[in-house]
Amino acid sequence: MVFPSTMGLAPERAEEVVRLAGMAPSLHNRQPWRFRLLPHLIELHFDPGSRLPVADPEDRELRLGCGAALLNLRIALDHAGVRPIVTLLPRLHGQTALAEVRAGRSDAPDPDAVRLCRAIPKRRSNRRPFLSTPVPEQDQHALARAVHEEGSHLHVIRRDQLSALEELVHRAHRAQLGDPEFRSELDRWTGRPEGESEGVPAAAAGPEPEPHDQWVLRDFAAGQARPRVPGKDFESEPLMVVVCSYHAGRLSELQAGQALQRMLLTATSLGFVSSQISQVVEVDETREELRRLLGGRLHPQALLRIGHGTPASPSPRLDPAELVLDDEAIADSGP
Ligand SMILES: Cc1cc2nc3c(=O)[nH]c(=O)nc-3n(C[C@H](O)[C@H](O)[C@H](O)COP(=O)(O)O)c2cc1C
Repeated sequence: MVFPSTMGLAPERAEEVVRLAGMAPSLHNRQPWRFRLLPHLIELHFDPGSRLPVADPEDRELRLGCGAALLNLRIALDHAGVRPIVTLLPRLHGQTALAEVRAGRSDAPDPDAVRLCRAIPKRRSNRRPFLSTPVPEQDQHALARAVHEEGSHLHVIRRDQLSALEELVHRAHRAQLGDPEFRSELDRWTGRPEGESEGVPAAAAGPEPEPHDQWVLRDFAAGQARPRVPGKDFESEPLMVVVCSYHAGRLSELQAGQALQRMLLTATSLGFVSSQISQVVEVDETREELRRLLGGRLHPQALLRIGHGTPASPSPRLDPAELVLDDEAIADSGP
């Protein structure tokens, strides 16, 4: 396939922009984002075939992932000298359209875009134990500012909220593992052999969860045994943060996905690592309890642990050409 050019970018540059967009995080690495490249704009669509109907029946996390890919796309375009102008949920673009990005003025890249663009390929989910060195307050403020810049809010879990949060995470985890359909969906997309381009590979799974673990409970290696290195337990007091939106609904979820990714790239550029712990926001009852724990005004979208850590293995990605939609694919896609 000859990669289409778009927004005045040569095909190789357009391909690089799509490659960077596709490096965003997504639930079980399903990579639900697709792009339609037209001469003057790029549309972001979701792929109905990449849904995870048991863990994410309302597509909330699918939209978080697509929001994260949109942030990468914006940064990659900015880095390529094109200031992006984004419309979320554009009308009249078919049922899978999530955003439309048009080219604003051409300009030298903003220094922030350069810093964050460099972080895109370095960011990865790190499911290993972190070091016990705390995240300094000024860096916590930088993470909160990154989320704020994208119209969302970062709640840093206070010490007195940790044990209530831990109880909610464990309750949600037990509820999910009690559902055979959840287990079979998780097993299908985790512990994947090398050479696959979707799903979480066993190498990125981190150590096998043990009953005394506080936060990292989900087994991403589909039960494959991997004995824990003695003395390599999880940190006892990680920085736990919740990315929250001010409202519920699709638009806020797309904003929260961009906020999540701006925070993750900021964390990466500052030398931190992170992993998501989603059980508590996937189970309706515990998500509501978490909302109350945070004061009842905000909508929790993603829970993360952040800290200093050792390098983690990457997860694979689809080829940029597989992410490009043609008009026929859009006409065929259902809601
Ligand atoms: C909405 C969302 C929820 C996620 N939930 C979890 C989770 O509960 N546990 C986890 O270890 N990773 C979680 N992840 C991370 C993905 O598994 C990860 O992004 C994907 O496998 C790609 O790997 P990478 O982040 O290293 O590029 C989540 C990601 C997103 C976007």
